[in-house]
Amino acid sequence: MDVSVDVRVASNDDLHLLSERLKTNIPNPEEGQVLVAVVGGQPVGTVTVSWAAADEPEVRDLFPGVPIMYRLRVDEPYRNVGIGTRLIRMAEHLLRQHGHKQVLIGADRDNVLARKLYLSLGYRAELTDLDGDNGLYDILVADI
Ligand SMILES: CC(C)(COP(=O)(O)OP(=O)(O)OC[C@H]1O[C@@H](n2cnc3c(N)ncnc32)[C@H](O)[C@@H]1OP(=O)(O)O)[C@@H](O)C(=O)NCCC(=O)NCCS
Repeated sequence: MDVSVDVRVASNDDLHLLSERLKTNIPNPEEGQVLVAVVGGQPVGTVTVSWAAADEPEVRDLFPGVPIMYRLRVDEPYRNVGIGTRLIRMAEHLLRQHGHKQVLIGADRDNVLARKLYLSLGYRAELTDLDGDNGLYDILVADI
């Protein structure tokens, strides 16, 4: 696909356009940031990074203070051209600028495609078989 994709920290306008898919989960700016991939003025992908304490006690115990990425999504027609990778790399870059050395991401056990992508980008499963709303999931970590 030969389109120009802008990957950036979401502006207020971007957040407005994303509000339906993010619902109430936009983090307070002191606790996280939303990134967006934009094509022709329209968001086609997003990821949220949070450095607030993780919900799961086992994650907080094993990775105190380590930020987490969640709600990574690229719209179907735009998949497999590198946008997900760019969102992840941009999130890592931002976190490095904030002094972080690691980042976490949660992956549902049955999400084979996402898991394959994370492993290929250097993420490794460190906490496995956590019980989530959608079944079992793992927490993957990367050094950034
Ligand atoms: C998971 C998801 C975000 C990936 O987004 P994406 O934009 O397709 O990701 P990328 O294009 O960067 O990478 C996907 C694959 O395409 C490959 N790819 C990237 N650019 C490519 C190109 N120009 N040509 C061919 N292949 C390419 C990547 O190498 C990767 O392959 P791999 O997994 O075998 O390493 C997307 O599939 C999605 O939104 N899924 C539904 C929501 C979801 O599951 N989110 C994750 C929750 S944990």
